[in-house]
This record gives sequence, C-alpha cells and structure tokens, in this order.
Amino acid sequence: MTGELSPIDKAKFVAARRAADLVENDMRVGLGTGSTAAWLVRHLGERVQSEGLRIQGVPTSSRTARLARDVGIEIISLDEAKMLDLTIDGADEFDADLNLIKGGGGALLQEKIVAAASEQVVIIADAAKEVGTLGAFPLPIEVIPFGWTTTQMLVEELLVSADVMGRKITLRMNGEEPFRTDEGNHILDLHLSRIGNARQLAMALNQMPGVVENGLFIDLCDKVIVGYPDGRVETRDINAGTVSEDRVDLVEDENLFSDLGD
Ligand code: 5RP
Repeated sequence: MTGELSPIDKAKFVAARRAADLVENDMRVGLGTGSTAAWLVRHLGERVQSEGLRIQGVPTSSRTARLARDVGIEIISLDEAKMLDLTIDGADEFDADLNLIKGGGGALLQEKIVAAASEQVVIIADAAKEVGTLGAFPLPIEVIPFGWTTTQMLVEELLVSADVMGRKITLRMNGEEPFRTDEGNHILDLHLSRIGNARQLAMALNQMPGVVENGLFIDLCDKVIVGYPDGRVETRDINAGTVSEDRVDLVEDENLFSDLGD
C-alpha cells in the first residue's frame, strides 16, 4: 500500500511512524496539524486499535480533532489536560538549532500553546524541511481581523529595520475570502526569504497589538525526526546533542490508509 505513496509522503509516513513509537500508555499527547501530523494520528489510532494503547490526545486544530476521533483516539481539551507529556507535530522549516517556522496549515497559535505546555516536543518532517537559515518559507503571523490592514502596515514598518531579505506581506486567502483560523483570526504571510535573527523578530512581532502570535518556534523543539522515502529515519536530539539513524518497515496495515479525510 505504501508503494502508492509519493516519495515525500513515504518520508512523512516513516517519520510519523517512528514518532508514534515514543508514545506510551497513559500519556497526554499534543497532536499536531498538517499532512505529516495526520500520519502520526493515523499511526497512533492504529496502536490504539491493535495494541489497546491508552492515551489522551489534545489536538491543535479542529481538523486534527476530527481525524483523531475518527481513528479512535480519546480527545480532551488543553484546559482538561493542563500540561502534556509529549507533543508531536510537523513543521514548515527547521534549522540546525531546531528552531522552526510553523503555521503553513494555519494552526500556529494552538500549536504554539500546546508545544509550550509540553514536557517534550518532537517534530516530524521530511528532509526538504531542513534549512541553513529560516525564512525561505513565508512566515505566517496570526492577526486579529479588527484593523488588520493597519496591523499589516505596522508590520511592514517593523520589517524595514529587521534583519530580513524580503519584505512582501500577503493576506492568506481561502478561495475568495480571507482565511480564518480556528479562533476566527486572519493569517498574514511574510515573504522574508531569509531571517537573520529569528529570536529578535519573533519578540518584535509579538509586541504588535494586532498580532496574536507568530510562526517562529524558538527553543520549543527537543527532537526532530527526519524521514526518508527509503524508510530511513534520523533522530536529532538537541538536548543530548545526539543524532541516531534507523529504519522503518514500509509495509503497513490497511487501516492506516482508510479514507477518513484529514
Ligand atoms: C500547520 C503546521 C504544519 O505542521 C506545517 O505546515 C507542516 O505541514 P505538513 O506536514 O503538511 O508539511 O505548522 O499549522
């Protein structure tokens, strides 16, 4: 069945599979958003069904909540969980310090709150997500709809003195309408090409009154699991300073591929 997946999906599949192995009984687990995180949710659902794995999941979007319920994972809110043992999520970019750009799927706010509430954050990705310097992927920021054009102007002004290469900003659309996050906010995508000082930019953006949160995840990620289409997985642990490699079998249960929609 995995033979039908594209090379990039195979890479996401194996990274998610390796991360699913980190989940143990009675854990409270933050469930990320996006196509890689959707594989993780399916793998966990498979473990719930076949092994009787007992976990409670805190989803980072309404999309992930739907999928998690569909595969049989018990869902609780972050208010119920308060703190989490582990969060597993995807990313749009990661660098050598495991700093990230997230928010390509528009869920960065819940993703960041959930990550900050987690004992351990593991990012799952294909190798194309690794960059020398963050910024080629447009940086999403979540903004309040009230006065969003003014917020955009103020962000443009901020970028003039920021250590970035590009300064174009676009409002994310959903067809003819502005995209709405689960909180009803808009997303501005900042086309910066290269972010010289991600920590400084993250702090400056969050000082703007209309900005709710930005997609730079600084010092939040503990491990990145990088998947490759041939089944290899590489785990980089920033705290231990280790890199390890192993392999995931690409032959999988049919249940993982049932049409649930994510
Ligand atoms: C959603 C995210 C995703 O984790 C990020 O966009 C990666 O998505 P994918 O796994 O589909 O490449 O941040 O807000």
